[in-house]
Amino acid sequence: MNPQNAIGIFDSGFGGLTVFKSIAQKLPDYNYIYLGDNARSPYGDHSFETVYQYTLECVEWLFQQGCPLVILACNTASAKALRNIQQLDLPKKYPNHRVLGVIRPTAEVIGNFSQSKHIGVMGTRGTVNSNSYPIEIHHFFPSVEVHQQSCPMWVPLIENGEHLHAGADYFVEQYIHQLMHQSADIDTILLACTHYPLLVPKIETYLPEKVRLIAQGDIVANSLTDYLQRHPEIEGKLAKTRQRIFYTSGEVSVFDQHASVFLEEEISSLKIKI
Ligand code: DGL
Repeated sequence: MNPQNAIGIFDSGFGGLTVFKSIAQKLPDYNYIYLGDNARSPYGDHSFETVYQYTLECVEWLFQQGCPLVILACNTASAKALRNIQQLDLPKKYPNHRVLGVIRPTAEVIGNFSQSKHIGVMGTRGTVNSNSYPIEIHHFFPSVEVHQQSCPMWVPLIENGEHLHAGADYFVEQYIHQLMHQSADIDTILLACTHYPLLVPKIETYLPEKVRLIAQGDIVANSLTDYLQRHPEIEGKLAKTRQRIFYTSGEVSVFDQHASVFLEEEISSLKIKI
C-alpha cells in the first residue's frame, strides 16, 4: 500500500536516488514515493517533446498515487519539461499540486563555491544544449563564467551497472580532460546530472587537485526545506509517517540491487508500466 500524501521523487532512472538520499536524511519524517523510469532511460539524448511527454506521464502517475508535491530529481527533465508542466499543465489540470526542479536551486548557490569564478558544468547533452545552467547561473552570479561539458556515456554506464568497473575510466578521463581543456581557471565542477554522484570514486581519480566537485543532493535538500517553510499550504498537505516506497518501470531485481547498495539499506521496489 502506498504511503499517503507523500513527496514524489522522479528521475529517469537511478540518478534521483542521489537526491532522495540527501532529502530523506534532511527531512526524514515525510513520506516518499520514488519513481525511476529506468525502462525509458537515458533521457539525455531524447528530444524536448519526448522528455516532456515522459516526464509529464511520470508526474501525473505520482499525482495519482496521492503526491501533492513532486521533485524532478533530474536535470534533463528540469531543463526540458519543468517550465511546460509548471506553466501549462498545473494551472489547467492540477492547480493544487506543485512540481519543483533541481536547476534553479543549484544555480542560486553554485557561484558561492568558486574562488576563480570559472565553473565547469557536466551534464547530459539535453541539459547542456538547453543552456539552462549558464542562463540561470548568470541571473544570480553575473560575473561567473560557465564552461559546459556534455557526458553522454556516463548515464548509460551507470544504468548498466558498469560505472565502477575498469571500462568506465576511459570516458571519465575523457570528459574531465575536455572540460578542463576549456579553461585552466575552473576551480569548481558541478555534477549537473543526478546520476553522476554514483561515478564520484572514478571522477576523483582524474580530477586536478585544485578542483572542487559539487553534487546537487544537499543543495536540493536545503532548498526543499526552505520551500516547505515558506509554503505552509503545501507542507500542511504532506503526511509524516516516515514511509517510503520505490517504483521502477524497469527490472525490479536490477533496481533493488543498485538502490540497496547506494542507499545502504534493503530496497524492494515495485514495477509499474507507464
Ligand atoms: N539523472 C538525469 C539528469 O539529472 C539523467 C538523465 C538521463 O536519463 O540521461 O539529467
